Amino acid sequence: MSDVDVTVHLTPDDIVRGLRSDVRTGLTATPKALPPKWFYDARGSELFEQITRLPEYYPTRAEREILAARSPEIAAATGATTLVELGSGSSEKTHLLLEALHRHGSLREIVTLDVSESALRDAASTLAATYDPVSVHGVVGDFTQHLALLPGTPARLVAFLGGTIGNLVPAEREKFLSGVRDVLEDGEWLLLGTDLVKSPDVLVRAYDDAAGVTAEFNRNVLHVLNRELAADFDVASFEHVAVWNEAEQWIEMRLRATRAMEVHVPVVGLTVRFVEGEQLRTEVSSKFRKDRVETELADAGFEIQHWWTDSQSRFGVSLSKAVAR
Ligand code: SAH
Ligand code: TRP
Repeated sequence: MSDVDVTVHLTPDDIVRGLRSDVRTGLTATPKALPPKWFYDARGSELFEQITRLPEYYPTRAEREILAARSPEIAAATGATTLVELGSGSSEKTHLLLEALHRHGSLREIVTLDVSESALRDAASTLAATYDPVSVHGVVGDFTQHLALLPGTPARLVAFLGGTIGNLVPAEREKFLSGVRDVLEDGEWLLLGTDLVKSPDVLVRAYDDAAGVTAEFNRNVLHVLNRELAADFDVASFEHVAVWNEAEQWIEMRLRATRAMEVHVPVVGLTVRFVEGEQLRTEVSSKFRKDRVETELADAGFEIQHWWTDSQSRFGVSLSKAVAR
């Protein structure tokens, strides 16, 4: 098996420091909120993989259908030598793209970046074993902070799949997309997966499954705070809430305190009070229409060359070229 080189831009120390600062800000705010990247410790990444297999969670299957049908076209259009995947998780769907690039004969290098070190290391060694002698670089990092540090040589194809862009709010998306554009040369590529606006029933079910896996995933962030910051959240006293916010066009995930509570977070010297029924926002998952995707990409210096949806028009994948701004 070929070597996998993994660069760590987020050490356990960096992680605790970032978590402390986000907790200080988020749990003293009104309403209370936490950023979503803290879901993804080893357990969180495992729970997310379970979510992708739930009957209600259609995005993974819909995106896989698109990639299965379009990867040969993507390989031919881009002729990419380097695939850079952001928020790669298990990189499970990415094999469809890599297989096509490999067949096309252009693939030389794979770069994957994720905050979840365990998921990243597992995925990177599978990639290295599968595509040997293609070189594989894993990067433990934050795609909102570490884009400029990514290895990889042109012609690059940056893949951002799973609808993860929807977990950023509009101002964060703008910053993220221009950040990606900044590290690319004119003519390089971005493959972006976006979940599409649809019936609120279908959306809410995808984020509130009958088996309760999403609820456990959502509550996992409290386990992370208990472990990393010695907090004393009574995790079982928070219930999972998923609501469609029509004005913002996003699903909002929250944790609702089922009783009044006082929570201590000694590592940051905080005592946090929850009244009964109070909700802590943990995540948004924005849903798109094609025109919105096109505008946001154009504002960042990308021109859509292809737009594909699955057979039920639930999910969109766009292939864009970096153009002069
Ligand atoms: N691309 C995979 C996983 C999507 S889930 C798929 O399509 O199934 C979102 C992934 O992004 C998780 O693996 C999570 O660990 C990672 N992630 C979330 N926030 C991140 C951030 N700020 N920087 C880097 N990775 C992040
Ligand atoms: N990127 C995924 C999405 O927005 C992440 C996700 C799926 C998620 N289910 C979730 C995040 C439940 C928090 C809670 O679809």
